[in-house]
Amino acid sequence: MIDLRSDTVTQPTEGMRRAIAEAAVGDEQKREDPSVTALQERVAALLGHEAGIFVPTATMANQIALKLHSRPGDVLIAEENAHVVIYEYGGAAAHAGLMTLGVPGNRGRLTPAQVRAAAEPSTKGADQHAAILALENTHNASGGRVWPLGELGEVVATAREVGLAVHLDGARILNASTALGVPPADISARFDTVTLCLSKGLGCPLGALLVGSHELMERAWREKHLFGGAMRQAGIVAAAGVYALDHHVDRLADDHTRARTLAKALATAGLPVDLEQVESNFVQLDLAPLGLERADALARLLAVGVGMSSTPHPTVLRAVTHLEIDDDDIARASELILAALRS
Ligand SMILES: Cc1ncc(COP(=O)(O)O)c(C=O)c1O
Repeated sequence: MIDLRSDTVTQPTEGMRRAIAEAAVGDEQKREDPSVTALQERVAALLGHEAGIFVPTATMANQIALKLHSRPGDVLIAEENAHVVIYEYGGAAAHAGLMTLGVPGNRGRLTPAQVRAAAEPSTKGADQHAAILALENTHNASGGRVWPLGELGEVVATAREVGLAVHLDGARILNASTALGVPPADISARFDTVTLCLSKGLGCPLGALLVGSHELMERAWREKHLFGGAMRQAGIVAAAGVYALDHHVDRLADDHTRARTLAKALATAGLPVDLEQVESNFVQLDLAPLGLERADALARLLAVGVGMSSTPHPTVLRAVTHLEIDDDDIARASELILAALRS
């Protein structure tokens, strides 16, 4: 199968497996794991922050961040289809006691006016405050869309003006920096906390980092322990992260090029793919004009050997490129998708 369901489906490469096998490890809970420490320092520097902590998943990184910036009863403001809103099982309420205000976005983006309006104090209670704005870049549910830097800066500045902490779910921030052609810190340094995921375009089996100030990351260690996320010889996984930063960052541009090539081939052949929407490693295909049901379309694709996946939008499917997809896969997938959806 040409598996375009997600960039999370990759297997560790030979080189990554070697790095895992040779990893120097120690007791991470005691902060004695050299590979974890090296990864944390490296990612903090990469993202323009003082410190970082290594956690098993990006979901845990996001959830810890929400707890750092709030008290139970506070309000989280986020785009309505953000990962923290629709894919984290209500964790914001369960873990941090937050009420989430999902704001309709455009391409996953909010405007300063929307943030200002959402942060207005509640008329009901004197002490129910909007505490956090969480943004996502690239934005998964809108198809890997990328925030323009100027617009991002304006929204973050507005959030600060109205007293919000700002968290970036940058699970795919390296795709965003690749798409914009800027260092990742140009995007991330302006946030209080930032999540980076290792198991997406970077191709690691698992792992994520949360970065921020020394003070916030000290508190984050405690929260991580509370989540049951304080590990032992975790360097076995962190070594994969260090390897990925050395070997899998520059190649993200190839994933983006391949997504565009696929999108162009499908659009040229008359399938409903909007090239304007292809900004990173996602291609979105709208089934509505084809009159196909989602389950039917996915089954047809699977029958010809192509994995695509659904999105929060009922008629939209996505194909995601990653390090196991090469140019031949893209050429073959274009033909197979056409054959499956046109017949
Ligand atoms: C934008 C975004 N944030 C967070 C996550 C959560 O990642 P994990 O599966 O490591 O918890 C994902 C996973 O798809 C994601 O796309």
